[in-house]
Amino acid sequence: MSLPIRSRVLGGALPRADVLLVFARGPRELPLPRSLARRAEAHLVRSQFRGGGGESHAVPLAGTSARDLFVIGTGKEFTLDIFRRGVAAGVRYTKAEGYRRLAILLPGIGPAAGRSRYVTLSASPVDVGRAFAEGALLANYRFTTYAPEAAERERRRKLEAVDLLVPRAAQRDVSGGIRRGSIDVLGTVLARDLVNEPASRMTPSALADQARTIAKASKGSLTLTLLDRKQCEARGMGAFLAVARGSAQPPVFIHLTYKPGTGHPTSPRLRGASGAVSSRGGRQDALPRVVLIGKGITFDSGGLSLKPAEGMETMKIDMAGAAAVLGVFSVLLKLKVPVEVHGMIAACENMPSGTAVKPGDIVRSLSGKTIEILNTDAEGRLTLADVLGEAVKLKPTAIIDLATLTGACVVALGEDVAGLFSNRDDLAMAVGAAAATAGEPVWRLPLVREYRDQLKSEVADLKNIIGKRWGAAITAALFLEEFVDDVPWAHLDLAGPSYAERQTNPVNPVGGTGFGVRTLLRYLEKLGSRE
Ligand code: BES
Ligand code: ZN
Ligand code: ZN
Repeated sequence: MSLPIRSRVLGGALPRADVLLVFARGPRELPLPRSLARRAEAHLVRSQFRGGGGESHAVPLAGTSARDLFVIGTGKEFTLDIFRRGVAAGVRYTKAEGYRRLAILLPGIGPAAGRSRYVTLSASPVDVGRAFAEGALLANYRFTTYAPEAAERERRRKLEAVDLLVPRAAQRDVSGGIRRGSIDVLGTVLARDLVNEPASRMTPSALADQARTIAKASKGSLTLTLLDRKQCEARGMGAFLAVARGSAQPPVFIHLTYKPGTGHPTSPRLRGASGAVSSRGGRQDALPRVVLIGKGITFDSGGLSLKPAEGMETMKIDMAGAAAVLGVFSVLLKLKVPVEVHGMIAACENMPSGTAVKPGDIVRSLSGKTIEILNTDAEGRLTLADVLGEAVKLKPTAIIDLATLTGACVVALGEDVAGLFSNRDDLAMAVGAAAATAGEPVWRLPLVREYRDQLKSEVADLKNIIGKRWGAAITAALFLEEFVDDVPWAHLDLAGPSYAERQTNPVNPVGGTGFGVRTLLRYLEKLGSRE
């Protein structure tokens, strides 16, 4: 994590570095002095570099101020995400080659960008700094707790400098953005660490310990409530406890609360994408109240509806939603957002045993609705039903849940994109916009009203599976919707992007990605800054 990143003012001379990274629309548009550009151009043309979005190519530069030129294609539209991924690819390349110093040239931002001859990045300097920090630091992450050799290799390959060179007019804001991005990274790295930790260590109690550590570090600004099995039972969380029944690990319900101190400069009204109705008397000047919920199954064996061996290999990741929520809370105080934020996690294991819940069992959820459990592997929606029940009691402005909920969502959208569902268009737009600037791809899927009947049970209010494969991400979301009353609610199905089985996005090394942390932080910030 400790990568020395900074921004510097782009001067006349090229910086000294091992690798010089530039962005270009094509081989003939390199932002470099003419002689150097010509030399590189010939090389790029020979190797058929076209400058498409994300395309990259290395050119040896012996005899100049750098050893290698690393060119990243921008395509026609140079977006923040291409920039972030390009920075990440540059860090990877520099490390892989055993080099120490990377310098990234970015002449085309800031007030003078319009006059630049080169491809310009259409984003604010603050956002550029933020994306730079995210790309560089997140690409540098490795989980080496149990791999001493890899840890040693990382130490040996440690970079000495990653510099972003920008026009003088943009430099201050870029530096501010870097500080902001470093906060995003801290939260994301915590989420990654929690997901990467093996399930036998990252138990429900270990998740609760994390919440305790976060609350303690806040010196009283965050409050934590932990409910044990008995307390959950007394509250009527029959659905959550049914899932927990098969495991030797005790379940725990985690509730973190952040209430901004009084005297906040901005006191945003409840309207617009916060999803609140302004007609709600007495709440006009109150702060928005958001509940973040994370699915916290620390291991999903499927229960008695046991998964096959390969299906279970990665099921330590089934608490990635919870990890994202904890990641957000670990940095929330640094943002000083004028938003009341709650984090709720029902943490347990889903295991088969003599005490496990059985297919055909009927349970009563916190809301009072009864559920026929036909497949114990559709456990996430059961635990979430009770968390949603608890969340709506707070009458929040918005609820956002993050859950590795269905394999079907991965079939629909692939491994990199999360499914977004919402009962409000403005909330969906706000979450979608936050995800886009964060570089965390999401795609909205519909809550198809006509499919709701498939969840009806003969013997209970609802059943937890529909008994066929089609549209299973949608029916899972519809199941959750049964428990949100009419509260504005968004659901992110992260089953695909919470874990990188192979490396596709240079920002995400193999393993837990920390998906969702950056989206939530941006969402909260935007909500807090609204008039
Ligand atoms: N935790 C899984 C979903 C999952 C699958 C997460 C792949 C990450 C990667 C969830 O609890 C599950 O088992 N869902 C079942 C539901 C089915 C039984 C209706 C699924 O998607 O197959
Ligand atoms: Zn499952
Ligand atoms: Zn699961």
